Amino acid sequence: MSGISEDRTPFDWETRFRDGDTPWERRQLHPAASHWLAEGVLAPGLSVIVPGCGRAPEVVAFAQAGLHVTAGDVAPTALAWQRDRLDAAGLEASLVEADLTQWRPDAPVDRVYEQTFLCAIPPRLREDYERAVHAWLKPGGRLLALFMQKAERGGPPYGCSLEAMHALFPAERWAWPDDNAFTAWPHPSLSGKPELAGVLVRR
Ligand SMILES: C[S@@+](CC[C@H](N)C(=O)[O-])C[C@H]1O[C@@H](n2cnc3c(N)ncnc32)[C@H](O)[C@@H]1O
Repeated sequence: MSGISEDRTPFDWETRFRDGDTPWERRQLHPAASHWLAEGVLAPGLSVIVPGCGRAPEVVAFAQAGLHVTAGDVAPTALAWQRDRLDAAGLEASLVEADLTQWRPDAPVDRVYEQTFLCAIPPRLREDYERAVHAWLKPGGRLLALFMQKAERGGPPYGCSLEAMHALFPAERWAWPDDNAFTAWPHPSLSGKPELAGVLVRR
């Protein structure tokens, strides 16, 4: 484990990265990320936080696209992997080793790209995460959400039904798209569980 409290990160992510036992990895850009880049939801000059970035290629892709990227994780091996890829590409990004449910940036950002982070943390920490993401974003900033759909109990991944997400991200604090506006993207592993892609606006 890294130096972050086991109580808050009971799953040993660092060992999983060291062992290469990482079935959650897509290994290519998430189609929703490609869509948001193409549509300009993720545009050059915007600032974005990627929580629980692991070894996801979005960190390099967003930096390559001209965004100001801050990526965080508890696992130093994953962050070292990101640093190597960024250096190899001659790109800049800020990498943070922290419990992201507690961490705060120096200044609020325009976007948060949420890919298999919320479903990875123990559900008892979800309210901390909602408070964190609200604090990270500027008013009018956007949470680019990929809510993992999983009916079975337990995890990680822990299911993020839209019903549970409406309760976690309440309408007083977040403007929601219509539930029908979410796009379902099946995960290439994880038994093809779908992630629902949608954009919430921080009030
Ligand atoms: C399921 S993996 C997803 C990784 C990456 N987003 C991807 O899609 O490949 C969850 C990630 O969150 C990180 N993580 C888990 N709990 C965390 C916490 N409290 N703070 C920061 N990172 C955490 C893990 O180390 C891991 O990289």
